[in-house]
Amino acid sequence: MIYEPREDSILLEKQVSKLAFGRVLDLGTGSGIQALAALGNHDAGEVIAVDIDDEAIIALNDLIKLRKLRKIKALRSNLFENADGKFNTIIFNPPYLPQDKNIEDKAIYGGKHGWELSEQFFNQVSQHLAADGRILFLFSSLTNRAKIEELINLNLLQFRLLGQQKFSFEELYVYEITKSDLLRRLEARQLEQIHYFAKGQRGMIYTAWLDQSKLVKTHFAAKKQIKAAIKIKRPDSKAQQSIEHEVHWLKIVNKQGLGPKLLFYEEDFLVYEFVEGLFILEWIKLQDRSSIILILKSILGQCLILDTLGINKEEMHHPLKHIIITKDNKPALIDFERTVETNKPKNVTQFIEFICRIEEELKAKGLKADKARLRELAKEYKDSGDQQIIKEAVNSFY
Ligand SMILES: Nc1ncnc2c1ncn2[C@@H]1O[C@H](COP(=O)(O)OP(=O)(O)O)[C@@H](O)[C@H]1O
Ligand SMILES: [Mg+2]
Repeated sequence: MIYEPREDSILLEKQVSKLAFGRVLDLGTGSGIQALAALGNHDAGEVIAVDIDDEAIIALNDLIKLRKLRKIKALRSNLFENADGKFNTIIFNPPYLPQDKNIEDKAIYGGKHGWELSEQFFNQVSQHLAADGRILFLFSSLTNRAKIEELINLNLLQFRLLGQQKFSFEELYVYEITKSDLLRRLEARQLEQIHYFAKGQRGMIYTAWLDQSKLVKTHFAAKKQIKAAIKIKRPDSKAQQSIEHEVHWLKIVNKQGLGPKLLFYEEDFLVYEFVEGLFILEWIKLQDRSSIILILKSILGQCLILDTLGINKEEMHHPLKHIIITKDNKPALIDFERTVETNKPKNVTQFIEFICRIEEELKAKGLKADKARLRELAKEYKDSGDQQIIKEAVNSFY
């Protein structure tokens, strides 16, 4: 269905005529009202108008022909699917109503809660937006406003209210959304396709692709992309200097071949290699006895190195989310943010405690850890510092 422009379109149109500039993308163009408004602005160049609905595009193309509009191009596209290149202005008036079970209409409903399509939009938009670009976004109080703002922030964007209008049963908002300073700095360092990945205790993790050939001058022009993880501080975390701290310890453990490799950092973020794999318990569930013994040995080996360095990684008795096993069966310890110097290192003893705690999971794989014996060996090691004892500990599985 193509709808006649309503109040919401008119509210957005006002801002579009004032603020559209450079190369413009009008997403979900419908009747084309926003694309035409953008055309009217002298600062606007080429305007690409897209819609998922064929009917809308056919009608708009007829209008373009009739009025001989040369600067505007209409094409069918599901969100950014067929929109190539970067844009200075992206206009989006998404279907934002929560789904009505009985009616199927892509022009009105934005998903179960109304914001699902906007979520997809915010996850993808950075790649299509120039560094100085702006998004003109319209939504309603019937969509969850707090959720929309959360999605904007999560994607390292920032917003400003440009206009609002109240009706009897809803309120409409027009936001101008731009890249945050942090996002611009990350992109300036050749990080591409930056996506939110996970929330940790104190940090937020994003993934990205890093084109290393642009960083290191080589004779080879070939693109060498590696997957990177970016850690930034959680806005709600009170931890002091957590980035600086983790950088410090990563440099030290990296020298020993431990931890994800640090690539670069600034005051408020660090970029390191993304470790593709499974958390230790998930991995154990899929493996056989002999591979598990090898991995446990290898992790204990890494813990021994940490002990030798006189540092505590902390939480090694509960490393569920901090040990990732890669596809080629290498264990990687992550999250060195809480690492401290110590003369009583306990990485090894904590990890042995963890082995005792996952007794059931190991038993299911035919690995029976003699807990009493393991704990005894851990204590002997703690008192004597004799690493040989630990090698024996792993052999005590039967
Ligand atoms: N280098 C990495 N490779 C893969 N996943 C990572 C990496 N760093 C962090 N993660 C993921 O992000 C989550 C949170 O990271 P973490 O370093 O524990 O942050 P925090 O310091 O906030 O606890 C981890 O549990 C893991 O799932
Ligand atoms: Mg953590």
